[in-house]
Amino acid sequence: MKGILLAGGSGTRMYPLTKSVSKQILPVYDKPMIYYPLSVLMLAGIREILIISTPRDVDLFKELLGDGSKLGMCFEYAVQKYPNGLAEAFIIGEEFIGDSPVSLVLGDNIFYGSNWSDVLKDAASLTNGGVIFGCYVNDPRAYGVVEVNEQKNAISIEEKPENPKSSYAIPGLYFFDNKVVKIAKSVKPSARGEVEITSIIKEYMRRDELKVELPGRGLAWLDTGTHESLLKASNFVEAIQKRQGLYIACIEEIAFRSGYITKQQLIELAQPLLKTEYGKYLVEVSHSINNAHVTM
Ligand code: DAU
Repeated sequence: MKGILLAGGSGTRMYPLTKSVSKQILPVYDKPMIYYPLSVLMLAGIREILIISTPRDVDLFKELLGDGSKLGMCFEYAVQKYPNGLAEAFIIGEEFIGDSPVSLVLGDNIFYGSNWSDVLKDAASLTNGGVIFGCYVNDPRAYGVVEVNEQKNAISIEEKPENPKSSYAIPGLYFFDNKVVKIAKSVKPSARGEVEITSIIKEYMRRDELKVELPGRGLAWLDTGTHESLLKASNFVEAIQKRQGLYIACIEEIAFRSGYITKQQLIELAQPLLKTEYGKYLVEVSHSINNAHVTM
């Protein structure tokens, strides 16, 4: 499976923070926002990732993450000229995707929870159809919403409904087989002028090829869509990291524990960061191979 990380958009809801810089480069506590969705694809076991951003911002991500080789990964980059909608990622990524299945993660989505990597690896093993998630939230009106029946099959999908039929919001993480490229090309823009991801999901539902995973209370899915939720996400990450002494979305740690890089490579990655807690943590992790049972 290949991965696409969509980190474009106009960011106008976060002005003035994002007037001159990408939202997905902003800090969530101690690391850039993009580390969090990137860690999700890595935990799913995906090593080839296409990062899509705006013509203005794509170089920022290249400078931050490079070609991925230092993490034993392979990163490519592409530009989305205008924020025409999430489904466009599959059209921009057509050549990159080739004949693989593909996962799409939105650059502003943060996940944290127990057994999460197992859930991700399971979803990434898909060969046919699509997998989405349903996360129970207090107010789902700002999201895609999925309604499920008793067998947990999707019976309706709506984008930002005023009167949601369920409390299950669809987070920005999707797994599809290779048909998604063709389906994305056939999707018509919505009333707000975007090619919606929900139109693709609906097509999989229509074909009876959609699986909905409901991760339950054990998964925290955090929003970074407003100034307040961005601050709350930072506070959440700080609280967990301080309490456990284990980091959330530490991409170097994931690369090491996944066996993509050696202890020596991890120590080298830590060198320029040694003035920070983050860098010291990497050194600690390099000595802790016996803690392989520590879940990621
Ligand atoms: O966060 C989950 C939600 O994301 C889903 O529940 C919705 O179904 C889905 O439509 C999307 O809703 P949002 O209103 O949050 O989408 P937004 O326009 O804010 O874009 C999400 C991210 O994708 C954001 O980081 C900007 C980026 N983006 C967005 C568009 C429309 C792009 O890179 N390109 C785009 O064309």
